[in-house]
Amino acid sequence: MQQKLIGVLATLTLILGTSLTAIAETSAEDAADYRLAVMTSLRGHMTAASMIVRGLVEDNGYLAKHAKGLEMSVSEVHRVFPEGSNVGESNALPAIWEDTDKFKAAIEKAENASAAFVAAAKSGGKDEIGGAFRNLGGSCRGCHDDFKMSDD
Ligand code: HEC
Repeated sequence: MQQKLIGVLATLTLILGTSLTAIAETSAEDAADYRLAVMTSLRGHMTAASMIVRGLVEDNGYLAKHAKGLEMSVSEVHRVFPEGSNVGESNALPAIWEDTDKFKAAIEKAENASAAFVAAAKSGGKDEIGGAFRNLGGSCRGCHDDFKMSDD
Protein backbone atom coordinates (compact mmCIF):
# COMPACT_ATOMS: atom_id res chain seq x y z
CA MET A 1 0.00 0.00 0.00
CA GLN A 2 2.69 2.43 1.13
CA GLN A 3 4.83 1.33 -1.81
CA LYS A 4 1.96 2.04 -4.16
CA LEU A 5 1.40 5.49 -2.68
CA ILE A 6 5.06 6.37 -3.07
CA GLY A 7 4.83 5.22 -6.69
CA VAL A 8 1.80 7.42 -7.34
CA LEU A 9 3.45 10.41 -5.67
CA ALA A 10 6.60 9.91 -7.70
CA THR A 11 4.58 9.78 -10.92
CA LEU A 12 2.68 12.91 -9.92
CA THR A 13 5.92 14.75 -9.23
CA LEU A 14 7.20 13.67 -12.61
CA ILE A 15 4.06 14.82 -14.42
CA LEU A 16 4.03 18.16 -12.59
CA GLY A 17 7.71 18.69 -13.27
CA THR A 18 7.29 17.90 -16.95
CA SER A 19 4.21 20.06 -17.41
CA LEU A 20 5.85 23.03 -15.71
CA THR A 21 8.78 22.77 -18.08
CA ALA A 22 6.38 22.49 -21.01
CA ILE A 23 4.51 25.64 -19.97
CA ALA A 24 7.73 27.63 -20.10
CA GLU A 25 8.38 26.66 -23.71
CA THR A 26 5.17 25.75 -25.54
CA SER A 27 6.04 25.07 -29.16
CA ALA A 28 4.12 26.79 -31.98
CA GLU A 29 2.80 23.37 -33.04
CA ASP A 30 1.50 22.57 -29.54
CA ALA A 31 -0.08 26.03 -29.31
CA ALA A 32 -1.88 25.40 -32.64
CA ASP A 33 -3.01 21.91 -31.54
CA TYR A 34 -4.21 23.26 -28.21
CA ARG A 35 -6.18 26.00 -29.99
CA LEU A 36 -7.88 23.42 -32.19
CA ALA A 37 -8.76 21.37 -29.09
CA VAL A 38 -10.41 24.41 -27.50
CA MET A 39 -12.25 25.27 -30.74
CA THR A 40 -13.35 21.64 -31.14
CA SER A 41 -14.81 21.72 -27.63
CA LEU A 42 -16.80 24.79 -28.72
CA ARG A 43 -18.14 22.93 -31.74
CA GLY A 44 -19.17 19.96 -29.57
CA HIS A 45 -21.10 22.11 -27.12
CA MET A 46 -22.70 24.13 -29.95
CA THR A 47 -23.85 20.98 -31.76
CA ALA A 48 -25.24 19.42 -28.58
CA ALA A 49 -26.93 22.69 -27.55
CA SER A 50 -28.47 23.14 -31.01
CA MET A 51 -30.05 19.69 -30.82
CA ILE A 52 -31.61 20.53 -27.46
CA VAL A 53 -32.69 24.00 -28.65
CA ARG A 54 -34.37 22.41 -31.70
CA GLY A 55 -36.16 19.95 -29.44
CA LEU A 56 -34.49 16.86 -30.92
CA VAL A 57 -33.12 15.82 -27.54
CA GLU A 58 -34.59 16.24 -24.03
CA ASP A 59 -33.10 19.13 -22.07
CA ASN A 60 -33.13 17.63 -18.56
CA GLY A 61 -31.05 20.57 -17.37
CA TYR A 62 -28.21 19.94 -19.79
CA LEU A 63 -28.70 22.95 -22.04
CA ALA A 64 -27.53 25.14 -19.14
CA LYS A 65 -24.49 22.89 -18.74
CA HIS A 66 -23.55 23.11 -22.41
CA ALA A 67 -23.97 26.87 -22.15
CA LYS A 68 -21.58 26.88 -19.20
CA GLY A 69 -19.13 24.75 -21.18
CA LEU A 70 -19.33 27.23 -24.02
CA GLU A 71 -18.73 30.14 -21.69
CA MET A 72 -15.70 28.37 -20.20
CA SER A 73 -14.09 27.56 -23.55
CA VAL A 74 -14.89 31.00 -24.95
CA SER A 75 -13.18 32.51 -21.89
CA GLU A 76 -9.98 30.83 -23.08
CA VAL A 77 -10.07 32.06 -26.69
CA HIS A 78 -8.09 35.20 -25.83
CA ARG A 79 -5.06 33.11 -24.83
CA VAL A 80 -4.97 30.50 -27.58
CA PHE A 81 -3.54 32.73 -30.29
CA PRO A 82 0.09 33.32 -29.33
CA GLU A 83 1.97 35.12 -32.10
CA GLY A 84 3.71 32.76 -34.50
CA SER A 85 1.28 29.88 -33.87
CA ASN A 86 -0.24 29.83 -37.38
CA VAL A 87 1.94 26.91 -38.36
CA GLY A 88 1.30 23.64 -40.19
CA GLU A 89 -2.33 23.19 -41.19
CA SER A 90 -3.47 26.22 -39.20
CA ASN A 91 -6.21 28.32 -40.77
CA ALA A 92 -5.47 31.30 -38.54
CA LEU A 93 -5.06 34.44 -40.68
CA PRO A 94 -2.24 36.96 -40.07
CA ALA A 95 -4.92 39.63 -39.47
CA ILE A 96 -5.23 38.18 -35.94
CA TRP A 97 -1.85 39.68 -35.04
CA GLU A 98 -2.12 42.71 -37.32
CA ASP A 99 -5.61 44.00 -36.57
CA THR A 100 -5.48 43.31 -32.85
CA ASP A 101 -8.23 45.77 -31.86
CA LYS A 102 -10.70 44.19 -34.25
CA PHE A 103 -9.68 40.71 -33.09
CA LYS A 104 -10.13 41.69 -29.45
CA ALA A 105 -13.58 43.05 -30.27
CA ALA A 106 -14.51 39.73 -31.91
CA ILE A 107 -13.41 37.87 -28.76
CA GLU A 108 -15.40 40.21 -26.54
CA LYS A 109 -18.48 39.71 -28.68
CA ALA A 110 -18.24 35.94 -28.18
CA GLU A 111 -17.64 36.37 -24.44
CA ASN A 112 -20.73 38.57 -24.07
CA ALA A 113 -22.83 36.29 -26.27
CA SER A 114 -21.86 33.20 -24.28
CA ALA A 115 -22.67 34.95 -20.98
CA ALA A 116 -26.08 35.93 -22.38
CA PHE A 117 -26.66 32.35 -23.52
CA VAL A 118 -25.86 31.05 -20.03
CA ALA A 119 -28.43 33.45 -18.55
CA ALA A 120 -31.05 32.54 -21.17
CA ALA A 121 -30.48 28.79 -20.80
CA LYS A 122 -30.88 29.09 -17.03
CA SER A 123 -34.11 31.04 -16.89
CA GLY A 124 -35.20 32.24 -20.31
CA GLY A 125 -38.19 31.24 -22.38
CA LYS A 126 -37.98 29.44 -25.70
CA ASP A 127 -37.62 32.61 -27.78
CA GLU A 128 -34.97 34.15 -25.56
CA ILE A 129 -32.97 30.91 -25.61
CA GLY A 130 -33.25 30.65 -29.39
CA GLY A 131 -32.20 34.26 -29.85
CA ALA A 132 -29.22 33.98 -27.50
CA PHE A 133 -28.13 30.78 -29.22
CA ARG A 134 -28.27 32.34 -32.68
CA ASN A 135 -26.42 35.39 -31.42
CA LEU A 136 -23.63 33.19 -30.02
CA GLY A 137 -23.41 31.27 -33.29
CA GLY A 138 -23.16 34.60 -35.08
CA SER A 139 -20.20 35.59 -32.91
CA CYS A 140 -18.34 32.38 -33.92
CA ARG A 141 -19.11 33.01 -37.58
CA GLY A 142 -18.21 36.69 -37.36
CA CYS A 143 -14.71 35.92 -36.13
CA HIS A 144 -14.25 33.04 -38.57
CA ASP A 145 -15.27 35.28 -41.49
CA ASP A 146 -12.60 37.84 -40.65
CA PHE A 147 -9.82 35.80 -39.08
CA LYS A 148 -10.02 32.18 -40.27
CA MET A 149 -9.12 30.87 -43.70
CA SER A 150 -12.06 28.91 -45.08
CA ASP A 151 -11.35 25.23 -45.62
CA ASP A 152 -12.54 25.13 -49.18
C1 HEC B 1 -12.12 35.59 -31.87
C2 HEC B 1 -12.15 34.66 -32.96
C3 HEC B 1 -12.88 33.36 -32.88
C4 HEC B 1 -14.03 33.08 -32.18
C5 HEC B 1 -14.85 34.00 -31.30
C6 HEC B 1 -14.33 31.70 -32.44
N1 HEC B 1 -13.40 31.15 -33.26
FE1 HEC B 1 -13.34 29.25 -33.93
N2 HEC B 1 -11.60 29.62 -34.87
C7 HEC B 1 -11.00 30.85 -35.00
C8 HEC B 1 -9.80 30.74 -35.81
C9 HEC B 1 -8.87 31.85 -36.18
C10 HEC B 1 -9.71 29.38 -36.17
C11 HEC B 1 -8.59 28.72 -37.01
C12 HEC B 1 -7.52 28.23 -36.03
C13 HEC B 1 -6.42 27.45 -36.69
O1 HEC B 1 -6.69 26.72 -37.66
O2 HEC B 1 -5.30 27.56 -36.20
C14 HEC B 1 -10.86 28.70 -35.57
C15 HEC B 1 -11.12 27.35 -35.69
C16 HEC B 1 -12.28 26.74 -35.27
C17 HEC B 1 -12.60 25.36 -35.48
C18 HEC B 1 -11.72 24.35 -36.17
C19 HEC B 1 -12.18 24.18 -37.58
C20 HEC B 1 -11.34 23.18 -38.28
O3 HEC B 1 -10.52 23.65 -39.11
O4 HEC B 1 -11.46 22.00 -37.99
C21 HEC B 1 -13.83 25.13 -34.94
C22 HEC B 1 -14.62 23.83 -34.92
C23 HEC B 1 -14.28 26.37 -34.36
N3 HEC B 1 -13.30 27.34 -34.58
C24 HEC B 1 -15.48 26.55 -33.71
C25 HEC B 1 -15.86 27.73 -33.08
C26 HEC B 1 -17.13 27.93 -32.41
C27 HEC B 1 -18.24 26.89 -32.33
C28 HEC B 1 -17.10 29.18 -31.90
C29 HEC B 1 -18.16 29.91 -31.13
C30 HEC B 1 -18.75 29.30 -29.99
C31 HEC B 1 -15.83 29.78 -32.28
N4 HEC B 1 -15.12 28.88 -33.00
C32 HEC B 1 -15.44 31.06 -31.93
C33 HEC B 1 -11.42 32.02 -34.43
C34 HEC B 1 -12.51 32.14 -33.57
